[in-house]
Order: sequence, then structure tokens, then C-alpha cells
Amino acid sequence: MEKETARVLALLASPVAGGRTARLLDAFLSQLPRAAERIDVYRASFRPCTACGVCKTREGCAFPDLDRFDRLLRASQLLVVASPVYNLSFPAPMKAVLDRFQRYYEARFSLGLRPPVETHREAVLLTVSGTEDPDGPALMARQLRMAFSVMNTTLAETVAWTGTDGSGASPEREKEALCRAEKSALAIARKIW
Ligand SMILES: Cc1cc2nc3c(=O)[nH]c(=O)nc-3n(C[C@H](O)[C@H](O)[C@H](O)COP(=O)(O)O)c2cc1C
Repeated sequence: MEKETARVLALLASPVAGGRTARLLDAFLSQLPRAAERIDVYRASFRPCTACGVCKTREGCAFPDLDRFDRLLRASQLLVVASPVYNLSFPAPMKAVLDRFQRYYEARFSLGLRPPVETHREAVLLTVSGTEDPDGPALMARQLRMAFSVMNTTLAETVAWTGTDGSGASPEREKEALCRAEKSALAIARKIW
């Protein structure tokens, strides 16, 4: 069943089924009072932006593969992006989605729609990284904040599970990271509902 009325939209941007990013997302979603509509970004293989310029001339995109995402986004009150850190950024399939958000930028600045997305939503970024380097999660949050500025979407929080390819892989560190994700979900749920 496609929950078109789902108020929570979750993007999973890891290729590893049942991996750490998936576990962090599951922990977060488990504490929400609403079921989430999930999109597996790797499985969906969304096309990258080709800078064709169609979104400068009409609202939307030349490619229809993100139409369902767009409908779910507009219906959502909470957007969750769960991603591993790859080379200090999002994995390529998620970066493709991020670039496709250009349609909202052009809707605002070429077509003059204010706002391009009518309703507001909160967002949370969940990141998982092999090292303790804070730059990847910080950069990813910055990328989302920029894109979200024309999507009526506020990045409320980042939950970062770091060091997973070292000591961060220990059961204690995993428990601590999942616990932070759960607490974040409870806090954001209180704020929204
Ligand atoms: C292609 C690739 C690039 C990566 N780049 C980084 C990186 O820049 N910084 C980092 O801390 N970890 C990096 N990692 C490690 C992953 O972020 C880490 O293993 C994470 O736990 C993977 O999550 P998963 O279990 O969902 O696959 C990289 C892993 C891969 C496969």
C-alpha cells in the first residue's frame, strides 16, 4: 500500500541491506507514532540531473521517476534522510536525488513560486561513518540545509554514528548511537504531533 497520506517520508541511502545505516533508521522510525513511507534510494536508481533546464520553464522535471517522491514530500510533516558517509558526502545515488532538487530552486527563482512547496516539514539527517571525522556529517547537513531552503523544509537535527570501521563498531557504541536516534525521534515527534 502506498501511504500517500503518510506524514513521514524516509530516504535510505545505503546499499547494504540490514547495515548500520538501515539499523539507525529503523531505531529512529521505531519511536514515531506514525508509519513511514520508505524509499530505498539505491533500489530506485533515480536518474541524475542533466541540467536540461526544463524546470526553468515549467514546474516539475523532465524525468518522472521522482514524481512519487514529490507527492510524498508535499504530504509529509517529517522527512528523514539516512545515509552513510562516502568520501565526505552522500553516496552517488543520493547525490543524484539532491541534484534533482534543482526543480524546487528553479520553481522559486525562475518561475517565481513562493513557496515552491506549500506546506512546511521538519527533517532529520542520520549519518553513519567509518571514521571519527566530523567533516562528512557536517558537510552533508550543509548540503541538505541549502537544498531545503527552497523546499519549505527545516533540518532540525543530525544524528551521527561515527567510527563504525573501528571502535564505533562495538555493541556499546552501536547501542549508544541507536539510543540517540530513538531520543531524536521522540523529541521531533513531540514537536510535530
Ligand atoms: C565508497 C565508500 C566511501 C567511504 N567514505 C568514507 C568517508 O569519507 N568517511 C568515513 O568516515 N567513512 C567512509 N566510508 C565508510 C562508511 O561510511 C562506513 O563503513 C559506514 O558504516 C557504512 O554504513 P552501512 O553499514 O550502512 O554500509 C566509506 C565507505 C565506502 C564503501
